[in-house]
Amino acid sequence: MSSVPEQAFEALLAEDRLFPPGEALRGQANVSDAGVYARAAADPEAFWAEAARELHWFRGWDRVLDWTPPHARWFVGGQLNAAYNCLDRHLSSARRNKAALIWEGEPGDERVLTYWDLHREVSKFGNVLKGLGVVKGDRVAIYLPMIPEAVIAMLACARIGAAHSVVFGGFSAESLRDRINDAQAKVLVTADGGYRRGRVVHLKAAVDEAVKDTPSIRHVVVVRRGGGLEVPASATDGRDHWYDDLMRQASADCPAEPMDAEDLLYILYTSGTTGKPKGVVHTTGGYLTQVQATARWVFDLKENDVYWCTADVGWVTGHSYIVYGPLANGATVFMYEGAPDWPHRGRFWELIQKYGVTILYTAPTAIRAFMRWGPSWPDQFDLSSLRLLGSVGEPINPEAWMWYAEHIGHGRCPVVDTWWQTETGGIMISPLPGITSTKPGSATRPLPGITASVLNGEGSDVRAGFLAIPKPWPGMLRTIWGDDERYRQTYWSKWPNVYFPGDGAKIDDDGYLWLLGRVDDVLNVAGHRIGTMEVESALVDHPAVAEAAVVGKADEIKGQAIAAFVTVKEGILITDALKAELRQHVADKIGAIARPDAILFAADLPKTRSGKIMRRLLRDIAEGRAMGDTTTLADPAVVARLKTEYEGKES
Ligand code: WTA
Repeated sequence: MSSVPEQAFEALLAEDRLFPPGEALRGQANVSDAGVYARAAADPEAFWAEAARELHWFRGWDRVLDWTPPHARWFVGGQLNAAYNCLDRHLSSARRNKAALIWEGEPGDERVLTYWDLHREVSKFGNVLKGLGVVKGDRVAIYLPMIPEAVIAMLACARIGAAHSVVFGGFSAESLRDRINDAQAKVLVTADGGYRRGRVVHLKAAVDEAVKDTPSIRHVVVVRRGGGLEVPASATDGRDHWYDDLMRQASADCPAEPMDAEDLLYILYTSGTTGKPKGVVHTTGGYLTQVQATARWVFDLKENDVYWCTADVGWVTGHSYIVYGPLANGATVFMYEGAPDWPHRGRFWELIQKYGVTILYTAPTAIRAFMRWGPSWPDQFDLSSLRLLGSVGEPINPEAWMWYAEHIGHGRCPVVDTWWQTETGGIMISPLPGITSTKPGSATRPLPGITASVLNGEGSDVRAGFLAIPKPWPGMLRTIWGDDERYRQTYWSKWPNVYFPGDGAKIDDDGYLWLLGRVDDVLNVAGHRIGTMEVESALVDHPAVAEAAVVGKADEIKGQAIAAFVTVKEGILITDALKAELRQHVADKIGAIARPDAILFAADLPKTRSGKIMRRLLRDIAEGRAMGDTTTLADPAVVARLKTEYEGKES
């Protein structure tokens, strides 16, 4: 069912360590009353309405929820603006001069923007976008490194009622092109480059390649980031503009557009089970309600916190928990541009010491890398400012959870393992740090107002099966951009009117949920979602390749690594050079995050009689469980023998 071996499930359920909320939080946390769960369950609509009232609405809603499965509308008739909620309403209080963003670039350059500053920059850039012809309802693509302009551009879109489509800066020109074309974006905001591991990533070069074939793009705005990058500002007539040139002339007076609660806030592409990424659609009122509330509940955000989420703004974690959730709470967000091991493996801990970071939200992949690098790195720095630790993006193994709690949290900081998805918009399953006793490796239970069950294929409750979300929630995706049928098929066809996230889960005697990873053809590599079909399409695009099958292979650090089984066309010589070329080809087509870790050449791909690739067998081979020597897969007899043995085992 999933790539996590059965023994691991059992080991997880045998996990009986229990960590009650620490003294520091008991009674002091933003949510301290355990009665909240029952209250929310008794009347979820009233509960979410109460959360929505924390936001500023230009016009109140007429109805909290209109649920016509599988389509939900929340806060129907209400009007608000996400950027107004993240900025303007903080200007009338002491927050006006509080740091909204504290930023450090990889080379060590620093910037601080107060709420006042950020409001000004966002307003100006809103006017820049308007000046380029962007109107309410248009889409703007954003392809930027982790610099403040990424936040500014997103909020500027929200301010004027345009939807952003942020594309992770590590994606290739081709991936960028496809996303721009799918969303029909009018303007693209990018940078000359960004820094990663001491090197400049030339984003503008990828942009120039991408926009050769994006007829909807009228303007490209380029932020100057990379030092000494020679990028022509005007590759084509009037198309390219320097960000700072436009900003210099822009007025800082840009009223926030009143948006309907169900107006589009953004599109974010994520991998699915086909080769074509899905444009997940998020709207304004429900989404902002959920991310504002969950940021406050789960991270226990307080006025003087320095909150650091290490995700990239190109992923949903960056959208919801770098930008919208924390800023709607008036929090101070710390943002870092670069890699955790540059120029040394203690960079994160150095940053925490330097800026007095109080809350850290990162991914298990990073934690496992830190474990491998050893505690001597964090031990060199003063981490006493930290008071809460979060995890997201993939299942966290109990060892990593314990290491995080001990070596980073020094036993003082609660660990909140948060389960959610691009599609859910906000956190769904997570401890509440003032209430929940945690178990290492479990995301514990659904948040108040959220439901979750473990079901089998028939829809009955089981101890181990598929995670299911029976009731609509405010931040849920509304559809897939331009493909409502795919929305219905992907998420709502497994059980009637119940959302299927695509994850396996178990539930223990205490009702704690243990998330077990994807059960579909989506890989989770270092916390990044990658569709096996996307990688397969990229491989067969290479002239030497006849067929390809891609599976996830357990990896100690990344959770899953990408193993690709490839058959070559007749007459093609199998060499190490070809292997390297294929890996690079995938990186060029999709982005470096999708580069296969292993390429295994096979004379044949094992298929069932109905022609389905036997992925479980391939996984067993990739992980060394199947009998036989994988290096000799090119011998057709080997695959045939493995297949026979496997079929014998299956029956
Ligand atoms: C996985 C990231 C276990 C899961 C926010 C989900 C997790 C996918 C956890 C979504 C967690 C995320 N424990 N698995 N705490 N958090 N996942 O869309 O498989 O990039 O379906 O959203 O990551 O990845 P996405």
